[in-house]
Amino acid sequence: MLAAIRRHFDAHYAAGESPLDLSLQALLPPALAAPETAALRSSAFLTPAGWRRLCGMAAQASVMQGCVSPVRLLDAGCGRGGVGAALASSIGASLVGVDFSEAAIAAARADHHQPGAAFMVADIASLPFEDGAFAIACTIDALHLVPDPQLALRELRRVLRRGGVMFGGVHRIGTSGAEARHMAHWQAFFADAGFGNQCWQDVSQEWRSVMHEKHARRLAQRGVLVARHGGAAALECDVSRQMVGSLDEPGFISRNARFEFLVTAT
Ligand SMILES: C[S@@+](CC[C@H](N)C(=O)[O-])C[C@H]1O[C@@H](n2cnc3c(N)ncnc32)[C@H](O)[C@@H]1O
Repeated sequence: MLAAIRRHFDAHYAAGESPLDLSLQALLPPALAAPETAALRSSAFLTPAGWRRLCGMAAQASVMQGCVSPVRLLDAGCGRGGVGAALASSIGASLVGVDFSEAAIAAARADHHQPGAAFMVADIASLPFEDGAFAIACTIDALHLVPDPQLALRELRRVLRRGGVMFGGVHRIGTSGAEARHMAHWQAFFADAGFGNQCWQDVSQEWRSVMHEKHARRLAQRGVLVARHGGAAALECDVSRQMVGSLDEPGFISRNARFEFLVTAT
């Protein structure tokens, strides 16, 4: 399963912008097209409000560590690195970004040259760092994609020093076939891995309303999109139909949920 997920993300990061992509981008709701977050090129769910919350969590983590500089921020599942790089610079840290997608890490290396920034290809469940190497880590919308999130959480706990802080976001539903995990499941996983002082926020309503708007806009323009881009646009609209669902069958959007967390390594 890991290889299949990696292939999916490699293709995602290697793809250039096709005419269809540009048409779909033009249909994004304002919350997903805001210039301040679009510039970060995140593959996670990132609205301006969500970005402010992430910056707040990074600042809180920094304060909890006594604002001691220089500090390194580990971003596990960093994608193209824009979010981690901006968070690191907001707290005067240097970024260490890890992702198992070679295409993601190639893009991150090409885009970010801040002093001290480092990007590595690695699996979150097997990190190439010594015990206690970091005081602050984040992992944004990646943990639910890992086949064994409990193993990954133990690994993240291992590379954080005692009292270190980790923050980020996670979804209820991950890879296909994986069981849905409610907030209480995640809290138990984090506790088992050695994370305490858990602070969680259910941001599902925001996620659902923005995602619904995104896919409803595509479905409303289905005819135009298919006339302009053919079968590929029809496939995208099929995905949007599954996301939105129908009265008889709830779509992915209503079944999924998204949570944000800030926790301490105990
Ligand atoms: C939804 S994207 C979010 C990326 C990034 N955090 C951002 O904000 O743009 C999830 C990322 O997790 C990475 N990922 C998934 N499973 C992983 C694993 N087991 N080890 C390392 N990275 C993983 C994917 O390659 C992808 O870049």
